[in-house]
Amino acid sequence: MSKLLYIQASPRIQRSHSIAVADAFVAAYEQKHADDEIVTVNLFAASIPNFDGLVVQAKYTILHGQPHSDEEQQAWKNVERVIEQFTSVDKYVLAVPMWNFGVPYRLKQYIDILVQPGYTFSYSEDKGYQGLVVGKPLLVVYARGGEYPAGSEAEAFDMQKKYVELIFGFMGFKDIRSVVVEPTLQGGPDVAKTRVREAIDRAKEMAVNF
Ligand SMILES: Cc1cc2nc3c(=O)[nH]c(=O)nc-3n(C[C@H](O)[C@H](O)[C@H](O)COP(=O)(O)O)c2cc1C
Repeated sequence: MSKLLYIQASPRIQRSHSIAVADAFVAAYEQKHADDEIVTVNLFAASIPNFDGLVVQAKYTILHGQPHSDEEQQAWKNVERVIEQFTSVDKYVLAVPMWNFGVPYRLKQYIDILVQPGYTFSYSEDKGYQGLVVGKPLLVVYARGGEYPAGSEAEAFDMQKKYVELIFGFMGFKDIRSVVVEPTLQGGPDVAKTRVREAIDRAKEMAVNF
């Protein structure tokens, strides 16, 4: 039995195109893997600690090899709880909208919590940086209001897919699969509907061998 973590980074739930496609993927996956456990986290509803001064201080205390104060220890426990939920699963699905050419701030906040030395990556002088979340597949569904096709001038503005692949790659992910839904706004509602339908079909096919 495997455990799949389904991370939703859109607050729009019912109206979200990335969630509609990822939902279809997860439903098709569930049909094939009836015994697997699916844990769904919407980053706008979940309790994710702020990465504030105290947490940053707790991080630097570890980096400097010092013991945590009581206050830091408490704050760091909340960080570890989020990392533990993330690293304890076998497979990942991420539904992510493009916001201002990048990712929504709640996903960035989540990433700032996850990416910690000794937890999701390591560093040594001889080996350099190494990701610690290895051997697990990740399916990312990207939704964008406009279009950013490979080879076009618009491609340079896409800091969403590039960033997600870079940062999850940094944590060790090698098997990163993707479905892109675009344009969800620029072409009007009929185009959006068609693109979502096409993306759902693709996602369902991809769920078979995930
Ligand atoms: C705050 C905000 C910023 C956005 N920025 C962009 C953008 O830079 N480029 C783009 O193509 N679409 C942008 N959009 C449109 C969304 O990418 C589009 O509506 C997408 O479908 C959102 O994903 P969702 O449907 O899963 O919520 C933005 C939307 C919001 C709410």
